[in-house]
Amino acid sequence: MRKYRVRGGNRICGALGIGGAKNAALPILAAVLLSEGESVIHNCPNIADIDSSIEILRHLGCRVDFVQNTLTVNNPGPTTTELPTELVSKMRSSILFMGALLGRCREVTIASPGGCQIGSRPIDLHLKGLRKMGAVINEENGLMYAKAEALKGTQIYLKEVSVGATENLILAAVLAQGETTLLNAAREPEIVDLARFLKSMGAVIHGAGTSTVRITGVKKLRGTTHRVMPDRIVAGTFLLAAAMTLGDLTLTGINPHDIKAITANLRAMGCTIKEKPASVRLRAPRQLIAIPHFITEAHPGFPTDMQPTFVAALSTAKGTSVVEERVFESRAAHATELIRMGANIVVTSDERVIVIKGRPHLHGATVHSKDLRGGAALILAGLAAQAETLVLDNGYIERGYESLPENLTKIGGDVILQP
Ligand code: UD1
Repeated sequence: MRKYRVRGGNRICGALGIGGAKNAALPILAAVLLSEGESVIHNCPNIADIDSSIEILRHLGCRVDFVQNTLTVNNPGPTTTELPTELVSKMRSSILFMGALLGRCREVTIASPGGCQIGSRPIDLHLKGLRKMGAVINEENGLMYAKAEALKGTQIYLKEVSVGATENLILAAVLAQGETTLLNAAREPEIVDLARFLKSMGAVIHGAGTSTVRITGVKKLRGTTHRVMPDRIVAGTFLLAAAMTLGDLTLTGINPHDIKAITANLRAMGCTIKEKPASVRLRAPRQLIAIPHFITEAHPGFPTDMQPTFVAALSTAKGTSVVEERVFESRAAHATELIRMGANIVVTSDERVIVIKGRPHLHGATVHSKDLRGGAALILAGLAAQAETLVLDNGYIERGYESLPENLTKIGGDVILQP
C-alpha cells in the first residue's frame, strides 16, 4: 500500500515539461513485436504499466534496455506465443499483445486482461474483429487460444468507438494479407502516434485519427526510432492542480491542439489559457466557476480519463456542476472519497451522473484511491484542501504518473510518497 501525504494550501505555479503518453507507449510496445531488429523509443514514461509491458516483451524473447526514458528493444522474433497470465492480468492494455502476436506468429494464448475496475470493460469488439480476419479463438478456464492459418484483410465495423479495439485490429492488420478497413474507428491522438510508429517500420496505414482507417498488409516490418507523443491526461492533471490551487502554470512539450477539450472546460471554469505551438499557460481566477453540464465522450470529445480530476476541481467551484459519464459504466468511486474531504457530491444509482455543489474549501482526510485517475483526483483535492490528506493507494497512481509527488513539488505542491 502506497501512502501519499499531501499538505494543502500552496499555489501550483511555475513551469513543467510533460513526458510521453502512457496510452501511446503501451500499444507501441506491443507493435514492436511485429518488426524485425532493433527499435529505439524515446520519451517513454517510466511508469509501472511500461514495466509490465517490458516484462512481457522479455518473456517473449526480446532484449530490452530502459535508460532515462529511452527504450531500446531488440526483437529476434518471439520465442513463445503464450503470454504470462500474472502480467497480463495487471493491465487491460496487454490485450494489445493479442493482435500483435497473431499478426506476427498467427498464434497466441492470453488470459482475459485486468486493469482499473471502472466497469465491465468487455473485449468483444477485439475478438469479433480478429475472428472476421480469420482467427479461430477458443476460450477455456479464463484463457483465450487464438490461431489463424492466415489473417486476411476485410471490412470491420466497430459497433462502439473503442480505442483498444481500433489499435488491436490495426496491429493484427499490418502484416495480414490484403486490405483491412476499420469503420467507426476511435480517433484518439494516441492511435495516430501508433500509426506513425508502424508506418516508420514500413506499414501502410491511411486515415488514422479519422473514423475510417485503411491498412494494407505488408510482408515484413523493420525496426525504427520513434518519439512518443506527450501525455494529454498528465498535462490535464497538472493544469487542474494549478486551477484548483488558484495558481499560474506553464506546461511545455505538449501539443495544445490535443488537449482542446480539456482547456475548453478550464476556460468555462474561469481560467485564462494561453496557447503557443508547444506550450500552454493557465492562470486561475480568484474562484473557479461550476460547469452546468458536461459529458465524457470519445475523442475529440471530453476524455473520460479527466472526469475524476474535473470532479475534484468542481468540488471547490462556485455553483452546481453536472457531469455525465458516458464512456465507462462505473467510474465514480472517487466521489465517495471526495465526500469524506467535505465535497458535496451526489452520484445517481447507475453511477452515470455526478452532481457537484461546489464548496469554498475541502478539508484533509484519509482517503483510498480505487483506480488510477481517481487516485490522481484525490491528490489534487489534497492540494486544494485545508490541512493534511493521506491518500492510500494500491499502486494505481504509479501505473500512469511518473514521479507525480516530485513533479508537483517542483511547481509548489507539498506531496510526498511516504515510505
Ligand atoms: C483506452 C485507454 C483508457 C481510456 C479509454 C477511453 C489505453 C491503454 N487506455 O482504454 O485510458 O479511459 O481508452 O478513452 O489506451 N468496449 C466494448 N467492447 C470492447 C471494447 C470496448 O463494449 O470490445 C466499450 C468499453 O466498455 C467502454 C468503451 O467501449 O465503454 C470504450 O472503451 P475503450 O475505448 O476500448 O477503452 P480502452 O481501450 O480499454
